[in-house]
Amino acid sequence: MVQQRALRFPEGFLWGTASSSHQCEGDNTNNQWYRWEQQGRILSGDVCGKAANWWQAAEKDFELAEQMENSALRLSLEWSRIEPTEGRWDSAALERYRAMLKDLQRRGMKPVVTLHHFTEPLWFVERGGFAEESNIRYFIRYVRYVVEGLTDLCDFWVTINEPNVYAVEGYLLGTFPPAEQDMRKTFYVLHNLLQAHIEAFYAIRRIQPRAQIGYCLHYRLFDPANPLSPLDRSTAELHNTFFNWGILQAAESGSFPFPANLFLGPLSKAAGARDYHGVNYYTREMVRFDPGMPSEMFGHRFLRPGAAHNDPGIDDSFGEIYPEGLYQVLKNVYRRARGNKPIFITENGFSDVLDDRRPRAILEHLVMVHQAIQEGIPVGGYFHWTLVDNFEWNNGWYVRFGLIEMDPRTQVRTPRRSASMFGEICRANAITE
Ligand code: NOJ
Repeated sequence: MVQQRALRFPEGFLWGTASSSHQCEGDNTNNQWYRWEQQGRILSGDVCGKAANWWQAAEKDFELAEQMENSALRLSLEWSRIEPTEGRWDSAALERYRAMLKDLQRRGMKPVVTLHHFTEPLWFVERGGFAEESNIRYFIRYVRYVVEGLTDLCDFWVTINEPNVYAVEGYLLGTFPPAEQDMRKTFYVLHNLLQAHIEAFYAIRRIQPRAQIGYCLHYRLFDPANPLSPLDRSTAELHNTFFNWGILQAAESGSFPFPANLFLGPLSKAAGARDYHGVNYYTREMVRFDPGMPSEMFGHRFLRPGAAHNDPGIDDSFGEIYPEGLYQVLKNVYRRARGNKPIFITENGFSDVLDDRRPRAILEHLVMVHQAIQEGIPVGGYFHWTLVDNFEWNNGWYVRFGLIEMDPRTQVRTPRRSASMFGEICRANAITE
């Protein structure tokens, strides 16, 4: 008999998909992304509309996740529904989330709930959002309200999704609302988001002493175009520090690396303020020093010629498919955080409308996760972005990340080949030949 070779994952490893409220629910008209859309700023010109219709019928998609034998599902709460105007709570909205979480539990999936995934109520935005340190208290008040209201249904929280993307796109590149281009402000926003995470951590800890609480960062690798060129190397290193490791360091130790520490005060009570590290990983970019750029810090970034790649977004945001990068990120996070906490891959995914690269990409990334685990890195779960095609921010419906194809006009779902492959892996808790 031929022995089947299998790469087994640890018992209790969480398998699931990740999603967010604005991208899936539909009819979220009280947040800054809706306003952005109304201003005609979505690059594809698309409207979010009913999105994947989760506000009405998320349960239908949860059934598809159940069929893939997922053991967990990550979704986010829409603050602008729960607190539509300052200090006024919509208990019906909270009830809707309770119903969703109950449905997940009934299907044997652990809910992993994100409290902030890019969107905020307009009243909060109008007060200056996270650019104002004094606004953190509003976020914490909302966190207390939802955690108290959902405490019997969820014990795994992601406080803030990708603070680095939120700050850089919104305040430095000007590609996300509020479309500012201000380096100093970018750092203040980052600082305030990390402080908000820390305060949320302690607020949740008091309500639910045994909950698992963390935040997730977007890790995007930057490699030198010419590894022998000191200029390319230091440009790449600058990118990595600025976008990845410096932020991890700040969250871990409470202080930002030089030179940001010259004008940013330390974060208070950072030490120990997480139960796990959330890793969102998608791609890497090559970097070449370019003296002609306005700031040499940003060099020239490009897709490695000949590399396997995602379908490009209108803004070219999704580049190389680089599985090895996930391994490098896991190693780095583990080493830099001194191996103190488990790691969860809170997002990893591919824009591939034809699904001709995704199945292989999933496999290759999971082989890297398995390898990291073999080497002693405590990875506790993998959440694929995403279950069904959903509204991809500035790219609207232009790029498709779903394991399941979804036509936003008809709401018809068609599982891609990736869905059945991912289901097999989840079912077996292993990659089998
Ligand atoms: C990260 C973000 O958290 C998510 O909202 C987005 O859709 C995916 N990356 C893909 O870009």
